[in-house]
Amino acid sequence: MALDIKLLEKLTSAFGPSGREVAVADLVSQELKTMKLKTKRDVHGSTRVTLGNSGKKIILAAHLDEIGLISTYIDKDGFIKASPVGFVYKEGLFGNRVQFENGTWGVISSEKTHPKPEIEMHKFFIDIGAKDRKEAEKLLPIGTFGVFARDLVKAANGRVISKALDDRIGVYVLLKVIKELASVDLKDTVNFVFTVQEEFSGLGAATSAFGIAPHIAIAVDVTDSDDTRENKYLNMRLDSGPAIKIMDASLISHPKLKEHFISIAKKNKIPYQLEVLPYGGTDAGTMSLVKKGIPSIGISIPTRYIHTPSEMISSTDVENTIKLLVAAVKGKIGGAL
Ligand code: ZN
Ligand code: CO
Repeated sequence: MALDIKLLEKLTSAFGPSGREVAVADLVSQELKTMKLKTKRDVHGSTRVTLGNSGKKIILAAHLDEIGLISTYIDKDGFIKASPVGFVYKEGLFGNRVQFENGTWGVISSEKTHPKPEIEMHKFFIDIGAKDRKEAEKLLPIGTFGVFARDLVKAANGRVISKALDDRIGVYVLLKVIKELASVDLKDTVNFVFTVQEEFSGLGAATSAFGIAPHIAIAVDVTDSDDTRENKYLNMRLDSGPAIKIMDASLISHPKLKEHFISIAKKNKIPYQLEVLPYGGTDAGTMSLVKKGIPSIGISIPTRYIHTPSEMISSTDVENTIKLLVAAVKGKIGGAL
């Protein structure tokens, strides 16, 4: 099963910073429609489809949104100041292109380019080509959302570079898992939830988990791959399979779920790795805090250069993540606790 580059390209190129995920949600609904599945969408845009109707209630979540920017100020010369939406590495901003929700484009520069500017957000500006404030105000009202536009490209060894692999690769994985399970008789009620605003507040994960009140919640997202430095600190690397999350800064995965996923990987001879991420968090952390506390875990795709406009993943990791999740759901995941 090779990577469906066409689908992944559609997903990553879609515009969808936190709070503006409609285009990505529409793609998900369209794709599921081709499988004769109807999605439900809530008032904020979180989109879901449910397979099976017995046993325990499960959530499998991936987030629709990507990191981005929002315009905060226009100076007299028509240059735009902006604030990050979600966590953005300021070191990487210089020279990047910004695509705004209303179709305006710009390039990021900073007040002083030499000597190197201090890395503070207010020193960066976006040049949209406007000649003055008046023109810029028309082209880009305050509070316009933008994303870091970058095309998807194929690199060596089945690796892929693109913006927004966090978490469109998770969205891709869920779509492929759904496709494989759509005609299978499931022993659990599995809610596939495509959430909004993971990079901002976790809104979609919190409200979906509250509404569904599942017995188990799983988030499929990316994790940092620490395989480019000489001095390594973390265990995750490309090509070593899905990372079974033990802990990040938002979640300690339920130990029984951790053991369950390890045993499924072993039984099905799927390569896997163990994830401890001292920073960051996912929808799994958010969902774990809802109601009486929902046993949760993250299944992660190791990703290099995370939260930059050029993230890198390995297609074999993606394939093995799909295999692991399909095996887990087929095997009555509700029995894990
Ligand atoms: Zn993410
Ligand atoms: Co992220």
